[in-house]
Amino acid sequence: MVLKELNIRFREYENISELAEEDRLLAEEAVKATANSYSPYSRFHVGAALKLSNGKIVHGSNQENIAYPSGLCAERTAMFYASAEYPDAGMEAIAIAASKNGQICEMPATPCGACRQVMAEYQDKSGRQMKIILVGSKKIMIFDKVDDMLPFIFDSLK
Ligand code: THU
Repeated sequence: MVLKELNIRFREYENISELAEEDRLLAEEAVKATANSYSPYSRFHVGAALKLSNGKIVHGSNQENIAYPSGLCAERTAMFYASAEYPDAGMEAIAIAASKNGQICEMPATPCGACRQVMAEYQDKSGRQMKIILVGSKKIMIFDKVDDMLPFIFDSLK
């Protein structure tokens, strides 16, 4: 038996103003995208802003449905739209923010497992790291690559 440990690195900030300009702009776009969330059931408004290698920023927000499983998270809405509209563009960075009761949540919302898996696939497809920026009003977390949010990414079919 060998006991192994996994070391995951990420950066934490207290304020959006501490971010590098490119990251801050994407974080602000994610905050804006929360306004387009359709979330009458959870009242949890999630926004995502995705920066592509062609320079475009695409937005996503969670879209809910009365048949609950039919809805989709903000992150996957953005990534699937980007892949459908710009199939050749790599996904370089994604920023995610959430709001409740009209206020941006203090702590960042961390992406669900299904969104992490989809991020992993597009990161692999582009061959370049996808940065993840999780935005809260009191804490911002930045992960350099999807592997740091989803260790042991499934790739057994390769
Ligand atoms: N949601 C997202 O959009 N992204 C996440 O990473 C977590 C959850 C959405 C799904 C649902 O519309 C609402 O938040 C509550 O779970």
